[in-house]
Amino acid sequence: MEKFPNITPLLQVTADGSHTISLPEMDEHYHSINGAIQESQHVYIEAGFKQIRKPEIHVIEMGFGTGLNALLTAIASETQETKVIYTALEKFPLPQEIINRLNYSDINPALFHAVHQAEWGKVEPVAPSFYIEKIQIDFRAFDFRDKYDVVYYDAFAPGKQPEVWSQELFNRIFAAMNTQGVVVTYCASGGVRRMMRQAGFAVERIAGAAGKREMLRCRRLKP
Ligand SMILES: C[S@@+](CC[C@H](N)C(=O)[O-])C[C@H]1O[C@@H](n2cnc3c(N)ncnc32)[C@H](O)[C@@H]1O
Repeated sequence: MEKFPNITPLLQVTADGSHTISLPEMDEHYHSINGAIQESQHVYIEAGFKQIRKPEIHVIEMGFGTGLNALLTAIASETQETKVIYTALEKFPLPQEIINRLNYSDINPALFHAVHQAEWGKVEPVAPSFYIEKIQIDFRAFDFRDKYDVVYYDAFAPGKQPEVWSQELFNRIFAAMNTQGVVVTYCASGGVRRMMRQAGFAVERIAGAAGKREMLRCRRLKP
């Protein structure tokens, strides 16, 4: 599998004791250093996934990375007794030796291993309530063939990776959303807010995870 070019991923412990990955060459992290689990739970699970009450929820993640959002969603699907079909897009899957060292396995060892052992390119059952399809692709090239209730927009920051925060992509995501579906992201920059509005979303600025004032929740209100 293709690797992140010329970049060495390193493990780093964040403020809540959970790991993140740091990319020193890019001066970037996969999560907030104020707490990776805290951020993931706040931004993606509480502000995103738990906003949707349906017997079957379709989630798509832009940037699978460590699989933390997938793991926390699998756990939430069990407690909410909701069936989840989870599509995870990732251009640069992490090496297995890094995944093996992540301390997220302490949260729920069985689900952590099932999420990571799921074969790429196939819909795989991880739990009775949770099915995942991990796809190795540049998400800008992804053909949105399903309709989604929740989008986790978890790319690197616009300052580091401006090409993935684009009007063209947000327009295509809007077209692929179910009515009342939400896009959540840790990023609250003015440029991203404007593009999301332009795409057709109702954009809310809500309290961010620890150490961040705001995050965005963007909802498709009409069919
Ligand atoms: C901020 S990290 C978040 C990772 C993940 N959600 C997690 O919890 O570990 C961004 C992720 O997006 C991936 N990524 C960056 N550009 C991408 C692209 N154009 N297409 C697909 N994945 C991309 C990176 O490899 C990385 O895994």
